Amino acid sequence: MATILEVKNLRTQFRTFAGVVKAVDDASFRIDEQEIVGVVGESGCGKSVSQLSVMRLISRPGEITSGQILFEGQDLMKYEANGPEMRSVRGAKIAMVFQEPMTSLNPVLTIGRQVTEMLELHLRMTKDVARGRAIELLDMVGIPAAETRLDDYPHQFSGGMRQRVMVAMALSCNPRILIADEPTTSLDVTTQAQLLELMKEMIGKFNSSLVLVTHNLGVVARYAQRIYIMYAGRIVETGSCKDIFRKPRHPYTIGLLRCVPRIDEQEGKTLDSIKGLPPDLIDMPRNCAFLPRCPYAIDRCRVEPWPDLELVGDEHYARCFINPEEMQR
Ligand SMILES: Nc1ncnc2c1ncn2[C@@H]1O[C@H](COP(=O)(O)OP(=O)(O)O)[C@@H](O)[C@H]1O
Ligand SMILES: [Mg+2]
Repeated sequence: MATILEVKNLRTQFRTFAGVVKAVDDASFRIDEQEIVGVVGESGCGKSVSQLSVMRLISRPGEITSGQILFEGQDLMKYEANGPEMRSVRGAKIAMVFQEPMTSLNPVLTIGRQVTEMLELHLRMTKDVARGRAIELLDMVGIPAAETRLDDYPHQFSGGMRQRVMVAMALSCNPRILIADEPTTSLDVTTQAQLLELMKEMIGKFNSSLVLVTHNLGVVARYAQRIYIMYAGRIVETGSCKDIFRKPRHPYTIGLLRCVPRIDEQEGKTLDSIKGLPPDLIDMPRNCAFLPRCPYAIDRCRVEPWPDLELVGDEHYARCFINPEEMQR
């Protein structure tokens, strides 16, 4: 399948009183047509900032300091963040669903108004046509009695239903890419699974691609075809979902895998978590940022700069010196 979005060497920083936070540091990734891509890493590793950069939603004190964001062959970095070109891409061609729908839905507007506004603005629909389409969309995402619920306000919906509304809104303009940033984090397990199934079904219907951002590698296992693992603002490993799960090649990925519950394990067994804390993104070491937490580190890791992503298999890349035999699962 053809590539729709290709991000090359993206750097996004925040100038703070404490110093420059290198939130995304030289990250490259791509999204192909109709695929599901996972972006995975612990809190604070740059997942959201990388995706907000694609949407050109980084504002001061943040700044994209370098890189290309090639969407359908056009470099979005050439456009003004709030200019007409970006406004026609953002929300319409690349849409986003956020972790906390209460902050992205407007509490004083009815659900119907929020959906129809998108349709009127981007697709130039008349009020009546937009209302009809809004009912269809809400129905599609499984809102019961969609026609009557159109006049309700966000607080009258449950968390799961609000997320469904967000998915309907995000898909209303038939985007090429749907970015879901930890869309299920605030939901209970059953509702989480339902929402993920819904998103998968919907992007199939709309022929869109899905970027699934999560701190939980288990969430992407069932859905993503390819995965990017982020650590300290960098992509430390990428490959097919199968390779990442069967042949992980970065100790950080191995650590994340140990945090995923396995069906074949006895109930009640406590899960591992990765010991130690992520590094300070203001004062990054030259060598591997995972070194202080790495159980397999060798001398080379201490003396040499952090290596670039290296090919370790078929479309499988990792940023690590350590021999795979040394990393036993
Ligand atoms: N507005 C901001 N000002 C300063 N630092 C920020 C800002 N937004 C994000 N950051 C920093 O950028 C880093 C990456 O954040 P983020 O992408 O939100 O992480 P996550 O992987 O949890 O989504 C974090 O260290 C965060 O503190
Ligand atoms: Mg985030």
